Amino acid sequence: MPYRDMRDYLATLEQHSLLRRVAKEVDRNWEVACLAKWLYQALPVERRFGLLFQNVKGSDIPIVTAALGASPHSVALALQCDVEEINGKVVAALRAPIKPKTVGSGVCQENVLLGEMASLTALPIVTWTPGKDKAPYITTNVVTRDHGTGIQNMGVYRTMLRDEHSVVVNLGPGRQGARNVRTWTDGGKAAPIAWVIAAEPAVHLATVANLAYGKDEIDFAGGLKGEPVHLVRAKSVDLLVPANSEIVIEGEVRPGELEDEGPFGEFAGVMGAVAKRPVAHITAITYRTRPLFYGYTSQMPPSESTTIQSLMNAGVILHMMRDCIGDDAVQDVWIDQTFGGLLAHAIVAITPTGDGHGKRVGRTVADIAPFKRITVVDADVDIRDPSHVDWALNARFNPHRDTVIIDDVNVPLHMDPSVRDARGNATPSSKIIIDATQKFDPGPLSLPSRDLMMKALDAWKDCHLPDFQMPKRARLRIEKS
Ligand SMILES: Cc1cc2nc3c(=O)[nH]c(=O)nc-3n(C[C@H](O)[C@H](O)[C@H](O)COP(=O)(O)O)c2cc1C
Repeated sequence: MPYRDMRDYLATLEQHSLLRRVAKEVDRNWEVACLAKWLYQALPVERRFGLLFQNVKGSDIPIVTAALGASPHSVALALQCDVEEINGKVVAALRAPIKPKTVGSGVCQENVLLGEMASLTALPIVTWTPGKDKAPYITTNVVTRDHGTGIQNMGVYRTMLRDEHSVVVNLGPGRQGARNVRTWTDGGKAAPIAWVIAAEPAVHLATVANLAYGKDEIDFAGGLKGEPVHLVRAKSVDLLVPANSEIVIEGEVRPGELEDEGPFGEFAGVMGAVAKRPVAHITAITYRTRPLFYGYTSQMPPSESTTIQSLMNAGVILHMMRDCIGDDAVQDVWIDQTFGGLLAHAIVAITPTGDGHGKRVGRTVADIAPFKRITVVDADVDIRDPSHVDWALNARFNPHRDTVIIDDVNVPLHMDPSVRDARGNATPSSKIIIDATQKFDPGPLSLPSRDLMMKALDAWKDCHLPDFQMPKRARLRIEKS
């Protein structure tokens, strides 16, 4: 059964020991963020868990963070599959999206605060880089709509608290949310906008996938879930919002109102720059009785943000390569979690069909996404295992022959702090493609035969040595031995 809502998912996480409730009173101005930072900075990926702060100083509303993106394992649980099956789920949902169903009422509107009553002071908005950030901010799904086509879009855009009734939204000029807003404000109209907090897991995960303009992430969420997401009409703006969410903030962006946003701790691991961004005015807050508040942990990677963005966008790239470009030799894609999403290092597994195929795939991936590094390996390498990928780099990659550098790529500074000269001036970025596929067959692997290795598993037990789970790296190698 798909999850009904965030509460349903949290209960499952807890059953898998992937959620910890914190009963101690915590201060959202520093403590929530710092504890979440230790989660990612100190614990290895397999020991991380989501956090549910039950007792937030000055608020009746509990705060959840890292529940969706503690690790690939939590993302897999949210999608009701194994880590290795996430790409398959994403590709299937992109091939067969499911349209949402509009319903008459939803739990997210059990309580409605309109106009002056809709005060942001009611919400436990977190300061995410305490001591350095300009203000607390919301990180959740933001819904906008194209004025001409009526098609909605969802993306996560950092939303800075400005005062009780207004915010500044980090809608970068290239973002689809910004494009939707302009379809209203360019014609002198106020653009509707809504922040959807603690929606069902499929909605959160679909939102961070970078889909083509005009593709509503809610259809993709339906595909991931396997049934339509229920939507209700917002109370004060002309938008449809996920009915089973915990909290929805509604507002409007009026033409010509921009304000400084930042500085804030950024996903790349440094503080970002201040930029002019649109102001939005809050028109309503609706919420479920005894709601939960969700804020993504981002900033210094690895983080919840880099985990979910990398995992969701790997499937998007696989879909583009196989279904849009038509190269079915592309078997799998993994994106490392040090930057997140389309900006990190992509590792692509292929079954090469001839000379130069590895480089060709690398160039295509470099063209369709902003990755700075693309490594192409054979499908007999576990792309999720850095030590196996490194082995391929050592054993199958000859730098002068197998490297492509693409220069003069334009990447905004705050996305990539390395694109500066020694005096701090912005410089163009570049990309590297590493073709680590095998160019000729060097003969058998230096492992005993498969039969002997399997027989030795029994001997291992007889020796009373500690149990282990066979890594995929070992399985792939033994299969060829
Ligand atoms: C926690 C988190 C925070 C994010 N903050 C921003 C942001 O402030 N501005 C932005 O443009 N993208 C941000 N992103 C990335 C976008 O949400 C993501 O790329 C999304 O697919 C963009 O949607 P769009 O292509 O429909 O605009 C963030 C993602 C996450 C997970």
